[in-house]
Amino acid sequence: MFYPDEVIEEVRERNDIVDVISNYVKLKKSGSNYVGLCPFHNEKTPSFSVSRNKQMYYCFGCGAGGNVFTFIMEYENFSFAESVKYLAQRSGIDLPDEDYSGEIKRENDLKSRLYEVYKAAANYYYYQMKTEQGRKAYEYLKNRELTDETMKQFGLGYSNIYSDDLYRYLKSKGYEDELLNKSGLLTYDEKRGVHDKFWNRVMFPILDVHNKVIAFGGRVMGDGLPKYLNSPETIIFDKSRNLFGLNFARQARTRKFLLCEGYMDVIALYQAGFQNAVASLGTAFTSQQASLIKRYADEVFITYDSDQAGTNAALRAIPILKEAGLSVKVVNMRPHKDPDEFIKALGKEEYQKRMDQAMNSFLFEVDVLERQFNFEDPEQKTKFFQETAKKLCTFEDEIERSNYIEATARKYHIPYEDLKTMVNRYGASLSNVNQYNTAVKADRESSKPHKEADGIKQSQKILLTWLIEEPEIYDKIKDIITADDFKDEMYHKTAQLVFEQFRENGIVVPAAILNQFSSKEEQNEIAALFNTGLVGEINHAEKEKAFNDTIHKVKKFSLDYESSRVTSIEELQKIIKEQTNLQKLHISLQDG
Ligand code: CTP
Ligand code: MN
Repeated sequence: MFYPDEVIEEVRERNDIVDVISNYVKLKKSGSNYVGLCPFHNEKTPSFSVSRNKQMYYCFGCGAGGNVFTFIMEYENFSFAESVKYLAQRSGIDLPDEDYSGEIKRENDLKSRLYEVYKAAANYYYYQMKTEQGRKAYEYLKNRELTDETMKQFGLGYSNIYSDDLYRYLKSKGYEDELLNKSGLLTYDEKRGVHDKFWNRVMFPILDVHNKVIAFGGRVMGDGLPKYLNSPETIIFDKSRNLFGLNFARQARTRKFLLCEGYMDVIALYQAGFQNAVASLGTAFTSQQASLIKRYADEVFITYDSDQAGTNAALRAIPILKEAGLSVKVVNMRPHKDPDEFIKALGKEEYQKRMDQAMNSFLFEVDVLERQFNFEDPEQKTKFFQETAKKLCTFEDEIERSNYIEATARKYHIPYEDLKTMVNRYGASLSNVNQYNTAVKADRESSKPHKEADGIKQSQKILLTWLIEEPEIYDKIKDIITADDFKDEMYHKTAQLVFEQFRENGIVVPAAILNQFSSKEEQNEIAALFNTGLVGEINHAEKEKAFNDTIHKVKKFSLDYESSRVTSIEELQKIIKEQTNLQKLHISLQDG
């Protein structure tokens, strides 16, 4: 850690978790906690809970959880260091001298160092385009009708024809090989040495929402293959959680987004005045990307390529976008290939018209379906309406369903009542299936906690949560359970910190324990350790039994574990004695 523990803890204490999260999520008081809709997964009923006592949050739906730093890391996509800085600023705390901390930070925070490397590389590519060799890259982009201003705005650049000039540049800037090797911008080969990954390409920097360069796409100037080469995923670049253009689109003053396939589409749209365009990064559109869009938009206009591949990609993206709660329309680019070519050919006014005429995503799906059937054949035509009726059943809201039945009936010139009857017939058989599925699912879910409760980890979680929530039990167990009974590395480290705080202060601050872990994943897991309660309301006797069961399970596992690893007969005898004692152990939860 590059700031002293006390400083980090002071920042945490000065940023009440309920206050901070309230800026992002609408919270409602419920008992001693606050609840709201989880910002990290899509849900309709709240399972996201924030505790002022624990200074922690936890989502029972998706398992996201942690302290105030974790939240900022997850929501803003910050590193631990960045979240400390951000919250320090929010609460007016001066962090130790930047120079001093910068030194140590360089040693510790690989993530922020990779950001530096990518920024340096982006600068380098950018200036290469201004050199003599870079002229052809500039000409290429000019040919594609980009203005100087647009090129600058997107930081477009050029990777030179030399095979290691970027490498030499980065070395001259003082970056060491170990770091550069992790950047993915270079190829390290034992025999051939170090080479730049990008060579003689137009470079498109990929920025995250905070305008940090996290990756590159490089395009050949002409027809070579591969057309685009992309830098690999790294700890700062997760393809499925970023979108090209999002840094601009989030600032466009509209809650409508344009979703395209290519870098050039986003750039051409931007130049034409549509700053709200984004593209997924050379991969299929993901639900994480949909959630990301949902933060900034309510409506998405899919403006993919007009070929079959683009249509198929749109069909796949529609349910993902809808699942995230976005309303979806599809823009028709025909007879042109993609937004870039459309705008070049017909201009921005025509593009705006296409947006205004964009097809509701359901009608688009039906439209595509229609192409698979020959309407001359009555049998096929009937089949088409059956398929459409099935699709109409998926609208849960009655008014919405009715509106869609009406729109479809109108479009295909069939009586509304006929289509409605067909839909209802499917709906009836479907609802039986649904009821069955719901029952099976509920069954599975209700048995889940029990199965997990059998698992030793579940007992360990319950015990740690119990200790946090009712610190008075510490005295009752301190001679029986120790941190060494937790064998999993992370559980062990956490238990050690918990027991240590009890010994030294008589009280545990769980949120402070989380400061010891700097990755989101670790913090999520620790948060679960402190948020595992018993299921349902129970009376005192039941509680006492549950408590003893938990202690027994945790201790028994630990003794069994050790007995399988003993090296002497004395050790074994000692463990057997403890095992016998454990069988007789009963702890009363009454005071005293
Ligand atoms: N892509 C990729 N690797 C490839 C081809 C495509 O990563 N070999 C990704 C790029 O993000 C590209 C997008 O898929 O922007 C769409 O590809 P395509 O439609 O082939 O290219 P265009 O965006 O039309 O590119 P251009 O206009 O430069 O020809
Ligand atoms: Mn194109």
